[in-house]
Amino acid sequence: MKSDNMNQSPNDTYNRRIDYLRISITDKCNLKCVYCMPEKKPRTFKKGDILTYEEIIRFVRIAHSHGLRKVRITGGEPLLRKNITGLISSIKEIGIGDLSLTTNGIKLPDMAEKLRDAGLDRINISLDTLDADRYRTITRGGDIKRVLEAIKEAERTGLMPVKINVVPIQGVNDDEILSFASLTFDKNYHVRFIEFMPASCNGLWEKSKCIKSSDIIDRISGLGPLKSFEFRGRGPSRNYQLKGAVGVIGIISPVSDHFCSYCNRLRLTADGKIRPCLFSSKEIDIKTPMRDGAADEDLENLYHHAIRIKPQRHRINEDTASYEHLKTMSKIGG
Ligand code: 5AD
Ligand code: SF4
Repeated sequence: MKSDNMNQSPNDTYNRRIDYLRISITDKCNLKCVYCMPEKKPRTFKKGDILTYEEIIRFVRIAHSHGLRKVRITGGEPLLRKNITGLISSIKEIGIGDLSLTTNGIKLPDMAEKLRDAGLDRINISLDTLDADRYRTITRGGDIKRVLEAIKEAERTGLMPVKINVVPIQGVNDDEILSFASLTFDKNYHVRFIEFMPASCNGLWEKSKCIKSSDIIDRISGLGPLKSFEFRGRGPSRNYQLKGAVGVIGIISPVSDHFCSYCNRLRLTADGKIRPCLFSSKEIDIKTPMRDGAADEDLENLYHHAIRIKPQRHRINEDTASYEHLKTMSKIGG
């Protein structure tokens, strides 16, 4: 394996060091969570429209030589794509030090060990309820047993720390905030509460259904004193630990407290576009130039261009109209 070369990660116009890429490798999913997918079968990209693994690997290699240090694989549901272990090992070979993946967990019980062996460092599992019936409703048909098994298997195989992503929605699962937070008393999980964000697919979204981080923290404080908890990594999550707990509670507040000044990331969509910001419609196509024979240098320039045009901040909490362009989360990888 090549060692991580120490090329300086570039800073953007607002002095943020950009060293993290989230790569969506498919927009297909085996669930249809109410806040993410429309009810009727969504139209997904055709096979020829999504980047091949060779294209993804080429781009990661180029970005790595320009300071990329951290990669997360997302979807849709990334474990639906064939031979994902091949992709993981190739990305690891390039020298990416921190390689993680976000999954709904349904296919993870049978794959955790292979993913770890291929070089995956960590995993995030999305789970919004601990109740089987409610899980079936929120995901429109999913089996929670698989996800609970996935969490155990991730732990057993050492994909640690296991992070559990919860999106609390008023009137849907807000009564479970304390149950999720309580998991951290006995288990070394990172339970991360993500504020419910607007996306064009989720007719469900109303400002009143988004539970603000400050409310989440207030509620959790009912379980005991919360202290700030620092750990490696810069990122959007503010972390806490309950007194006597072994796990960590993370709060991610895209809506109420834009964390934009800490943002270190770009996104690559499954159809080959760099998105400098989740909430901006600006995209830079890398697939077309790649398929038209672009040289590495051209792709380097596109990478730097994406970093240069990264906006200072989003305004979804001020201007509700500005999120209309947001595609389903499954298209941009959450
Ligand atoms: N608001 C907040 N989080 C969302 N996710 C998907 N849609 C939304 C939304 N509208 C989360 C999922 C998953 C991650 C990839 O993105 O729960 O954990
Ligand atoms: Fe699939 Fe994740 Fe969207 Fe749920 S939130 S439908 S699991 S992509």
